[in-house]
Amino acid sequence: MDVLECIKTRRSRRKFLNKEIPEELIRELIDCARHAPFGGPPKKEPQLWEFVIVKDKGIKEKLALDYEDRQFVKEAPVVICVCADKRRDPNYKEWEITCSLAIENLLLAAHALGLGACFVTTFIHHEGHQKDRKNLIETLDLPEYIELIALIAIGFPDPSEKIEEKELRDIDEILHLNKW
Ligand SMILES: Cc1cc2nc3c(=O)[nH]c(=O)nc-3n(C[C@H](O)[C@H](O)[C@H](O)COP(=O)(O)O)c2cc1C
Repeated sequence: MDVLECIKTRRSRRKFLNKEIPEELIRELIDCARHAPFGGPPKKEPQLWEFVIVKDKGIKEKLALDYEDRQFVKEAPVVICVCADKRRDPNYKEWEITCSLAIENLLLAAHALGLGACFVTTFIHHEGHQKDRKNLIETLDLPEYIELIALIAIGFPDPSEKIEEKELRDIDEILHLNKW
């Protein structure tokens, strides 16, 4: 698939076929994720991303919490939990930015490989949901130096899913020339 077409046709998918994802596809997703830009010299140190691959039904159920609109997480064959090792960027703390670039690579790669995926929040900045965030962190057994950034639910997309049409903001509305 052409890269521009891939970018423009990717949509979040929340309904999956009951079909396992082959291991080599998961490794390909992580390979694409790790090719994203990262802050710092092209050495290993600033590559702070870490990926926890969850296939266990019990763990997926816990990651779905008890929100109705999040239950698709437990139906996904795989949930990739994207984390940052904070020890690798102690000064700039650009954990979320770095991981977000890897996540978009992963979402686009999933689409190109015929998979469907959806970013699922871990409530980083939701003050009212810190108990939920704590639950997620405990479920994944994350040490304190690992920051949980996002969950990515992935599977082969169920073609019966109804995808709501997307309304994008106009280019001229978001484009500013030279200054605000
Ligand atoms: C920061 C962020 C958090 C999101 N959290 C959730 C979530 O918790 N649950 C969910 O179903 N989708 C979540 N999404 C997916 C968005 O709902 C989706 O990307 C948006 O509606 C645009 O649709 P598209 O991905 O099909 O283009 C999240 C996306 C982002 C970027």
